[in-house]
Amino acid sequence: MPPNDDHPHVPGPSLWPIGFAVGVVVLMVGLVVSWWVAGLGAIVAIVFAFLWIRDLTAGTPLVETAEAPPERPTGRALPATDGEAGMPLSPAEERYPRARFLEASTLGLGALIGGIITVPALGFMVGPPFLKQGQKDQDLGPLTDFPEGKYIVTTYTADVTQGKVSRRTAFVRYNGQVSGLPSFSIISNHCAHLGCPVQPNGPLDPSGRKVNGDVVLVPTISIAGFGCPCHGGQYDTEGNRTAGPPVRSLDRYAFSIRNGHLFIGKPFSVSHVEGTGGTAKITKWPFAFPGEHVDGLESWLYPIQPPH
Ligand code: FES
Repeated sequence: MPPNDDHPHVPGPSLWPIGFAVGVVVLMVGLVVSWWVAGLGAIVAIVFAFLWIRDLTAGTPLVETAEAPPERPTGRALPATDGEAGMPLSPAEERYPRARFLEASTLGLGALIGGIITVPALGFMVGPPFLKQGQKDQDLGPLTDFPEGKYIVTTYTADVTQGKVSRRTAFVRYNGQVSGLPSFSIISNHCAHLGCPVQPNGPLDPSGRKVNGDVVLVPTISIAGFGCPCHGGQYDTEGNRTAGPPVRSLDRYAFSIRNGHLFIGKPFSVSHVEGTGGTAKITKWPFAFPGEHVDGLESWLYPIQPPH
């Protein structure tokens, strides 16, 4: 490059920006459909961004090759007033053009300021759903409060620190012993359509009502499944959808038994149940919100969820 050439370096055409853009698009789509797709998009975007930056920075050497120094004159030294200037302007003094420095520092400062503003906002926006969203096991009372083969409408406080706003209802049925262990079906009362409270399709027995602390137990007499009053969703006695708009079976809860008491655990979603009682085959899925398909092609149409 001639010493006084002020033209900025312009890198040649490259496909890296296109690859970067494709990676960002895949990342965005992945945030809707799947963590795996999002991860793939992030990797593609990072790789192409690296190649792009490398292309930009490699095109212009920061230190240009200096021309070979002129041969030193030999013989008698000239007087200071004779000959050329003692220190002519060297081409090496134009090693890093001012325009390029200003361009890099402007972009760098912009990225720094953008990061300082964006990262905390994103953290506050995305972070909370990933923190302390778990539900602790709750004691529903002694096993003797749950007669075999009968659903008990059980209302309890899911989180005592949140008070009554966390009151929940589940339908609990003791299925008897299976392989020497007590078996329970614990079905959520949240409709799998839009979350309305599902009711047993049959009479309750108020005379059998029991209260264990903040747990209220009301036995059913005989039910033919569950029904939703909002839009007519219907479920059989295992929680399978039989009619109406719900997109899957009723959710269930894990359970554990400690010191002769039944503890209700974390909820999970169910696509369908084959069989009945303790020997039923339950197709489980991670807990999903009402209205979301958990299997089939439709399940790809919902945004990925934070852990809950
Ligand atoms: S919310 Fe239950 S059917 Fe719509």
